[in-house]
Amino acid sequence: MFQHGLILSLLFGEINSKREKIFSCTPYECYIALSRAMDSLFLLTDTIPPENRDQMWVFFHSIFGNDNPLVVEIGSGNGHFLVECAMSNPLKNYIGTESLHGRAQKFCEKIKKRSLRNIVVFRGDARQFVWEYLFERCVYEFIILFPDPWPKKRHHKHRLLTEPFIRMMETRLVDNGAVSVATDHEEYRDRIIHEFRKVGAFTNPYTEGYTLYPPDYPKTLFEKKLRERGKNIYFMKFKKERS
Ligand SMILES: C[S@@+](CC[C@H](N)C(=O)[O-])C[C@H]1O[C@@H](n2cnc3c(N)ncnc32)[C@H](O)[C@@H]1O
Repeated sequence: MFQHGLILSLLFGEINSKREKIFSCTPYECYIALSRAMDSLFLLTDTIPPENRDQMWVFFHSIFGNDNPLVVEIGSGNGHFLVECAMSNPLKNYIGTESLHGRAQKFCEKIKKRSLRNIVVFRGDARQFVWEYLFERCVYEFIILFPDPWPKKRHHKHRLLTEPFIRMMETRLVDNGAVSVATDHEEYRDRIIHEFRKVGAFTNPYTEGYTLYPPDYPKTLFEKKLRERGKNIYFMKFKKERS
């Protein structure tokens, strides 16, 4: 079975020393090319995170082949939504994050089947991805659709949308970038609006803090299921103010 670690050590070890002769690309470009060729891919998980903002841009350029605006989805499930976005918006680059192995795998298979080049997957904790791989002012939009609501009070600590994570996303957003969120859970909805207000760096276009009108992007699998059950869906958009 293909091992990212093995490939990395090969590339950065023996092969790297001869790469001037063998490859006309950087070690990272070779890694991406090899990964894709070996069918493994579209997974950022076992890659080495960039060490600074300049390296990050080289890293993303190696992956996507351009510097198009970056959209990051948190909790992508099996990637149904983000793959549709990537197909309809070839001039944007998409990174999906998903902690469950099986779902991330299905996500990768969808990308491969459609031969998409503007979308990759990070399998793991989205918070780790945002912290380790992203530097300030690089993301055009974070999309978080139906984050697990953890309805029991004693489980609230597991919720993703808390003040520290929102602060972290804020630093990674470009000026006028946005965090788009949807949930069917009223109490979590109000909590999310409250947490964004605490951070204070965002404007919210809706007087109630949310709208029932869906934005013009595809429906996720969760949204389809929830609508079949007659649930209300609350959409929120938090726009980063110029700092
Ligand atoms: C309720 S599902 C929604 C999936 C998808 N957004 C949709 O609407 O169909 C939440 C997803 O977030 C993933 N998830 C939860 N916590 C996560 C984290 N810290 N990092 C990455 N993914 C996470 C879960 O595994 C699950 O697939």
